[in-house]
Amino acid sequence: MQVSSRPPIIEMRGIGKAFLAGSIECQVLTDIHLSVRQGEFVSVAGPSGCGKTTLLSLMGLLDVPTRGEFRFAGEPVQDLGRAERSRLRNRQIGFVFQAFNLIDDLSIAENVALPLSFRGRMSRQERGRRVRDALGSVGMTHRMRHYPSQLSGGQKQRVAVARALVGDPAIVLADEPTGNLDLHNGEIVMALLGRLHAEGRTICMVTHDERFSAMSDRTIRLLDGHVVDESTFQQRRSEMESGLDQLRFGESLP
Ligand SMILES: Nc1ncnc2c1ncn2[C@@H]1O[C@H](COP(=O)(O)OP(=O)(O)OP(=O)(O)O)[C@@H](O)[C@H]1O
Ligand SMILES: [Mg+2]
Repeated sequence: MQVSSRPPIIEMRGIGKAFLAGSIECQVLTDIHLSVRQGEFVSVAGPSGCGKTTLLSLMGLLDVPTRGEFRFAGEPVQDLGRAERSRLRNRQIGFVFQAFNLIDDLSIAENVALPLSFRGRMSRQERGRRVRDALGSVGMTHRMRHYPSQLSGGQKQRVAVARALVGDPAIVLADEPTGNLDLHNGEIVMALLGRLHAEGRTICMVTHDERFSAMSDRTIRLLDGHVVDESTFQQRRSEMESGLDQLRFGESLP
């Protein structure tokens, strides 16, 4: 089936998110309308502080919007309680973070098995098989008994991709997954995400790197907490760049 005719897995209508800093309300996302269809590979781009991580946290049910409607796989989720959100998150969503977020005291196999421990009963054999399969898919089975501190950054991120996959999630959310990697390791991690997409998974990835966003089907551009179209984004970017040039060359100084 064409991706364009598949149902959306993420649907946001008029979503807003505000944080309270003391008594001051800080509006981070405003009136976000977007949908991501099953099987799509979407990238999210925008300048630092514009709300990309906040948006991904809402998509991943790690946080709740302060206004608007959010449907996940057709189900309204904006009013779910914490336990229900966790249940849905554990079954449906895999995460990859810029800083890898592996647990230092657990072996590689134990790190990858972690999402399965929230899944209710599963036999040891089934758990072991899934962990081996996930590590096999990122070429890291030989490091099962090692610890995160014994791995390079690129290897850690491959393990993090295995952990995101082990529960067979419907969607993988990746927040700057190549941000702490050199170009070569970044390309390896992107190739892994590309393969997950080719296998039919939905991927939503924040990236600053235009080479990597070019691999996605579509880019959602955020500016100051709003989704904007490509032309607005490019215009604002060139304004910002010329502002930076002026600062660099002192033109704006008296
Ligand atoms: N828990 C929080 N409490 C208060 N403010 C927050 C919180 N989380 C994020 N913010 C604010 O929301 C804004 C957007 O943050 P966010 O982390 O989503 O940006 P980003 O686009 O991911 O930036 P970067 O590219 O630097 O990662 C920032 O101004 C940040 O200070
Ligand atoms: Mg961020």
